[in-house]
Amino acid sequence: MEIIIQPTPEEAAGIAARIIARLLRDKPGAVLGLATGSTPLRLYQMLAGMKLDWSRVTTFNLDEYIGLPREHPQSYHSFMRENLFRHVNIAPENIHIPDGNAADIPAFCAVYEERIRAAGGIDLQVLGIGGDGHIGFNEPSSSLASRTRIKTLTPQTRRDNARFFGSEQAVPHHVITMGIGTIMEARQNLLLAFGEKKAAAIAGTVEGPVTADNPASVLQFHPSVKVCLDEPAACRLRRADYYRWVFDNKPAWQTW
Ligand code: PGA
Repeated sequence: MEIIIQPTPEEAAGIAARIIARLLRDKPGAVLGLATGSTPLRLYQMLAGMKLDWSRVTTFNLDEYIGLPREHPQSYHSFMRENLFRHVNIAPENIHIPDGNAADIPAFCAVYEERIRAAGGIDLQVLGIGGDGHIGFNEPSSSLASRTRIKTLTPQTRRDNARFFGSEQAVPHHVITMGIGTIMEARQNLLLAFGEKKAAAIAGTVEGPVTADNPASVLQFHPSVKVCLDEPAACRLRRADYYRWVFDNKPAWQTW
């Protein structure tokens, strides 16, 4: 893992934006895995401001609420349209977001996996992380080999997301999420985390044992992971000084 610790969320998101911009310039037909939530907002604003060519880019989102109308302001369809897609020249047919209103959700999940494979697999997956270590909506105890499927949110995740819905009661209980096995097949993972509320999950992800109790810890088995953090999210890392030294002393051929 490459641990990138920056003073502010803006600087950490700026590095993530440069990594993605470079991918889109090197590979105009790249396949991106995308995340929602508050964490990637700055990243998407920055990418939208970079005037990149998205015309051949394909995207797959990690997750969506089940039963929420697509036009609901808190659906991840709405989130992606408002925060990224309407600002870039992506082709609508290249956008893939799980359909939380599919009549047959298990069949839809199998088709979603097949679409990822047919697109050639995900080149770079953007990830946020829950305070409990979830990635996508793979809550603690998720199988580390799981595929796209239905999950039930924990009470804590519903409380965390109540801020978007106005009340906890309004937060759906069920979601579709790419599985951990699906995420692990992305060629590169780019995990962002900001704020002290993420510090324990990040410490477990980077330095703890690999355990389904902190699903993001499975990324220790992935050969290409970058973790972009602000200082508060990094405050519980035992080896933070080492990660800073590595970043500050990268040979030119290793930078992006
Ligand atoms: P957040 O959510 O970006 O809104 O903190 C992250 C997550 O729950 O995965």
